[in-house]
Formats: sequence, C-alpha cells, structure tokens
Amino acid sequence: MKIEASFITSAANASGLPADGLARIALVGRSNVGKSSLINALVRRTVARTSGAPGKTRLANVYLVARGHAPAMHVIDLPGYGFARGGTAGFAEIATAVLAPGVAALLLVDARHPGLESDRDAWTWLRRTVPRAAVVATKIDKLARGERIRAMRQLESVFEDSVLPVSAVTGEGLDELWKLIDSLVSRPHPSSSPSRPRRQPPSSPPAATARPRLEKTTGPTRARKARRRR
Ligand code: GTP
Ligand code: MG
Repeated sequence: MKIEASFITSAANASGLPADGLARIALVGRSNVGKSSLINALVRRTVARTSGAPGKTRLANVYLVARGHAPAMHVIDLPGYGFARGGTAGFAEIATAVLAPGVAALLLVDARHPGLESDRDAWTWLRRTVPRAAVVATKIDKLARGERIRAMRQLESVFEDSVLPVSAVTGEGLDELWKLIDSLVSRPHPSSSPSRPRRQPPSSPPAATARPRLEKTTGPTRARKARRRR
C-alpha cells in the first residue's frame, strides 16, 4: 500500500498545531523508547530524526500521513518523558497542550522494561486525558522468545489492556499497528455515547526530569535488571 508522509510543523502548544480538522494520533513515551523510529518505520522512510541519546525530539513534531485510500491524518511525535535538557518546554507542558480531547494516542513502552512507574503514571494520565489510547511495546526484536513471552504477559497485566509488540528494526507488528491506528482514529468520540461513564478530570502527565531515574517495576528482579541495563 502506498504511504505518503511529510513533515508539517513543530509546535510547543496547541495553537501551533495545524487546524485543518484531520484526525490526529500522538506517540507518547519515555525518551529513547523509539517514538520517532516507529514513525519512520510506519511510513517506510526517514521523516523523523532519531538518536541513540535520549531527549532528541524537543517539540511536538507533526507529520501528514496518507496511506492508500484512507483519509490523511496527522501523526504527532512528542518529546519523551523521563529526560529533559534545559531551555525548552518539557514533555509535560507540550503534551498537556497537544493532547486535547479528540486526539488519539499510543503509549510506547520499551518491551525490555515492563511496568516502569513513569509508564504506569503516563497510562493513567493518558486514559483520563484522551478519548482513545492503546499501549505498544517497542524494540521487541531485542528480546529472546522466552523473555518476550514473559514481558508481554507482564505488560498486559500492568496496563490491564492488550499490548501490541512491534519493532522498528525488523518491521514486526507494523501491519497490526496500522490497523490499531485506523481503529483509534476512526472510532467515534466517546462523549457522543450517553452510556459511557464520565471521565475523571485530567491529572498531571509524568514530568520530565534531569536524567532518567531508576524506577520501580512490578517486581524486584526486573528492577535489578533495569538498573543493570542503564
Ligand atoms: P526521544 O526523541 O529522545 O524522546 O526518543 P525517541 O523515543 O524518539 O527514540 P528514537 O526513535 O530516537 O530511538 C532511540 C534509539 O532506539 C535509537 O538508537 C533507535 O535506533 C533505537 N530504536 C528505536 N526503535 C527500535 C527498535 O524497534 N529496535 C531496536 N533494536 N532499536 C530501536
Ligand atoms: Mg524522538
């Protein structure tokens, strides 16, 4: 299927976003989790800048993506949480401004670190802030089969939702991810459904901190492993 993608703009707040009424999907996740790489993999070309060092994406970068005959959408690459260098607004400010009601979101979590506190906080916050969100486990290519089964089981238990494993390197899961994105952006806004319970008022997104901090995972073994990897 033909995919067209182009960079549109960088925004630090909602007024910097294009106001053309297209569906929007934002990628949210810790710095270095692979948000920009996943956008490039999805559109099969390098539109977003990536880096081995955290903190590469500093603003909300908006891409116009048109896939086959489906309606075009905006894909928004956000700065990551868990890392910030001084000088510009961090994740919390930008995400709060950009993730207005009506924007769908993907929470990206590193498949190797299931259940980090900041990811759990982000999921709680996202579910209260946007009408439609799903969890995606990145860098699944880095896990051997047994580790992968354990990680996926733990992720689905922590987030209490299905989690889609993907790899920007091998392309695994990308067809499924497109289907998921299509379903998120085309689903009607839940506020139009009278049977749905009211959402809690938005709480705060995870703050960007000076450096990635050690976080609690759901078990002591994983916490030790996570510490060794950093
Ligand atoms: P920030 O912009 O700093 O928030 O980071 P980001 O989430 O956009 O991460 P980015 O896409 O820049 O990727 C970070 C690093 O992870 C880079 O070195 C990528 O090559 C690597 N990476 C991203 N996705 C994958 C993946 O699926 N598999 C593997 N093995 N590496 C990946
Ligand atoms: Mg990035």
